[in-house]
Amino acid sequence: MNRKMLSLALLFFQVLSLACQLVWSQSCEQMRIMVPAYFDPSSNSQAWSSLNSAATTLPNRIVAIANPSNGPGSAAQSSYQNVITALQRQTGLVIGYVSTNYSNRASNLVQDDVDTWYRFYPTINGIFFDEVANTDGKQPYYQSLYNYVKSKNSSSLVVNNPGAPTLETYLFYNGSRVADVICIFESGVGGLSMTQSSWTSNYSRYNFYALFYNVTDVNVSSFDYGDVIDRAYQQNVGWVYVTNDSLPNPWDTIASYFSGEVDYIKNDNQC
Ligand SMILES: *[C@@H]1O[C@H](CO)[C@@H](O)[C@H](O)[C@H]1NC(C)=O
Ligand SMILES: *[C@@H]1O[C@H](CO)[C@@H](O)[C@H](O)[C@H]1NC(C)=O
Ligand SMILES: *[C@@H]1O[C@H](CO)[C@@H](O)[C@H](O)[C@H]1NC(C)=O
Ligand SMILES: *[C@@H]1O[C@H](CO)[C@@H](O)[C@H](O)[C@H]1NC(C)=O
Ligand SMILES: *[C@@H]1O[C@H](CO)[C@@H](O)[C@H](O)[C@H]1NC(C)=O
Ligand SMILES: *[C@@H]1O[C@H](CO)[C@@H](O)[C@H](O)[C@H]1NC(C)=O
Ligand SMILES: *[C@@H]1O[C@H](CO)[C@@H](O)[C@H](O)[C@H]1NC(C)=O
Repeated sequence: MNRKMLSLALLFFQVLSLACQLVWSQSCEQMRIMVPAYFDPSSNSQAWSSLNSAATTLPNRIVAIANPSNGPGSAAQSSYQNVITALQRQTGLVIGYVSTNYSNRASNLVQDDVDTWYRFYPTINGIFFDEVANTDGKQPYYQSLYNYVKSKNSSSLVVNNPGAPTLETYLFYNGSRVADVICIFESGVGGLSMTQSSWTSNYSRYNFYALFYNVTDVNVSSFDYGDVIDRAYQQNVGWVYVTNDSLPNPWDTIASYFSGEVDYIKNDNQC
């Protein structure tokens, strides 16, 4: 082989290896878990401990949504600060619940809740806005809330929950973000037919989150949490949580099979 052929062959292998890396990285997008942890650490410390274990199994892939009182509550509680710090020590993040009532709640009241979260729990990692509108016109309301949270700490994670498909302009509006993550599914039925809007295929899966409750803890007709996790993955969702808990409040305890769910996700798409 002369020198020219050698360098051509080298180039060929470099291109081939780059292509392989691309294909590999595409098949190697690991799911992350975000848990609406609406359980009180003073009465259910076990559930918070299982979040810590999950973060040990899945480093940097666990987020808990704390919710003392449909928001931050009226006083800082040491029990909450303790579980926040403990989960953060295991590489987990904790974000605070704030309701927006589909934009009917006055912005200044919503901002007060954001302030309270950062005042009571200074290490909080971001905000989960609940009851988020998904019809055209409310994007500026949510974008200013997004910017408000980022002004507290630019690394904050902002998760918006319409619990249903939404418009692309609720992710980016007027050239900038409205949310870091959007929860596009929250239901106790129809998990296996959960379908993302087509516009979402232009974005990374880590922009999208799906919540499945009322998923039975027994493996009925081979349907279990693994099947809905697979469906979420196929639908370009990067953040997930599945529970057998159900209405009226599916988030008041942790899934009976949570550790199985964590292991299932660990064994999927290993990099
Ligand atoms: C949410 O907004 C609607 C419409 O303004 C209002 O009727 C309702 O009381 C509000 N809900 C809460 C919990 O404030
Ligand atoms: C901002 O948030 C990041 C990640 O949540 C954290 O590591 C950092 O310490 C925070 N900065 C301040 C000033 O609190
Ligand atoms: C769009 O963004 C620009 C600056 O980036 C701002 O001046 C303008 O007010 C924004 N428009 C709307 C409708 O939010
Ligand atoms: C729970 O799932 C069953 C079917 O598996 C369905 O009949 C029921 O309506 C669901 N309940 C809720 C609250 O979604
Ligand atoms: C993805 O973005 C491109 C460029 O903006 C656009 O032409 C295309 O329609 C988008 N695809 C979907 C599925 O929305
Ligand atoms: C549920 O049952 C199916 C079929 O027997 C099996 O493939 C799957 O691994 C089971 N899931 C769990 C979590 O045990
Ligand atoms: C979830 O499963 C656990 C363990 O089997 C059970 O005790 C609990 O009642 C279930 N929750 C619901 C809402 O069915």
